[in-house]
Amino acid sequence: MTVLDPTCGTGRLLLAAAQVASERGCNIRLVGIELADALACVARAALPQADIITGDATDLMRSMHPDVVLLNPPYRGRMRQPIEGDLERLQSLESSLGSRLGPYTDPATGFVLLSEAVLKEGGQLGAIVPVSIVSARDAAAARAHLARHCITRSIVSAPAPFEAQVNTVSIVLKKRPEPIDAQCNWSSKLATAACVPSVSLPGDALIGDIADVTADFRDEYYALKGHIVECADCPDAHPVLTSGLIDPGVSLHGTHPARVHGERWSAPGVIATRKEDTDAKLGAVIKQRLVPKVLVATQTPVIEAVVDAQGEFLPLTPVIRIVPRDPADLWRIGASLLAPQASALALHRHFGAGRSPAALRLRAVDIAALPLLESSREAACILQELAGGGGDLRIAASQAADLWGGLQGKASEALLDWWWSRLPERCRSSNTPGPK
Ligand SMILES: C[S@@+](CC[C@H](N)C(=O)[O-])C[C@H]1O[C@@H](n2cnc3c(N)ncnc32)[C@H](O)[C@@H]1O
Repeated sequence: MTVLDPTCGTGRLLLAAAQVASERGCNIRLVGIELADALACVARAALPQADIITGDATDLMRSMHPDVVLLNPPYRGRMRQPIEGDLERLQSLESSLGSRLGPYTDPATGFVLLSEAVLKEGGQLGAIVPVSIVSARDAAAARAHLARHCITRSIVSAPAPFEAQVNTVSIVLKKRPEPIDAQCNWSSKLATAACVPSVSLPGDALIGDIADVTADFRDEYYALKGHIVECADCPDAHPVLTSGLIDPGVSLHGTHPARVHGERWSAPGVIATRKEDTDAKLGAVIKQRLVPKVLVATQTPVIEAVVDAQGEFLPLTPVIRIVPRDPADLWRIGASLLAPQASALALHRHFGAGRSPAALRLRAVDIAALPLLESSREAACILQELAGGGGDLRIAASQAADLWGGLQGKASEALLDWWWSRLPERCRSSNTPGPK
């Protein structure tokens, strides 16, 4: 049996493999490749029985056919400086893996694909890679390829960022004899392992069927720089809603401070009409957003959305806005997102997309693809009460869960408890944030 580590560094993974093989009385051949000769020398000293080659794995491993690949490849990571030749090597990976690597895919995904390509039939790959491989849009083609060609034997997330400052997952794949039609279910496997309840769909209708879901970008965020004022000082200002000012069903604007452009504001607002303050373009951007809508925060433990029935709030990037074609559907959308099932489903679909492994970072398209509950007077009442500063969040969420349906008795209570336990402490201790 040949065990290959194509980016072996000082040989730690190969050393572990040697120990396991010796405990089990197996005879294995160890092969390591490492770009940095200084590290390769350390690996050679630690593993005299192994073949350690200094060189570029993206080139050298193509002619190898190992039974097992152990992989802890280089990550792009937010903090990492590129090493000399990185760009060329990435381009060479892209040219051999074609459309399976999107432009923003972490190079680690390229190493996973290359490892799968060289594995013998029935061979196994154990990889430690950034969690972005599970949910990043640009890794979708790679995931689809790996699902067709490999059985996922296990996937485990490592929540604490280690020295690479990247959240990682450990994946064990076994190469199929023949590719089959299969979908990648890594995200759902991780969600299940993190005790996120499984839920059924309430029907076929989706939020995107009746509403436009949009996210602003950095440009819109920076366009407001210099135009933020305190609402208390400027009665004409439009209140600005940040992600931090959105709790499930309620806006915290005016009752909680917010940070905008690095500064702290008691109640941030923006003036759209003063000529000396704003150019016509900014005025148009603001006007377009001052319509009845539902606003959704990002990087949250559950979906946190609030109905802006009067169209008075200006969402600040990265808040996502949902504008129904018929404003009568606002409360229906709000109830659909308040139902604990929506948060559980979103985690099963997009686990690992947030900054911390269990945080939700839904894109506009992800929200558009979430189920839409039937229109009901009950949904409107629940949400209106909450938005008005009254109501009880737990009861409201339980009613929204009933509208979604599919769960009864203990299962329904367990779902509610799970959702409730993920809420920020301030939501659990007080359902009434006070007057706006
Ligand atoms: C995250 S470290 C992992 C090292 C080792 N596998 C471990 O777990 O300790 C990644 C290693 O890949 C090496 N590396 C980067 N690009 C490479 C390439 N194209 N070919 C071979 N090694 C490479 C780096 O020098 C680094 O030592």
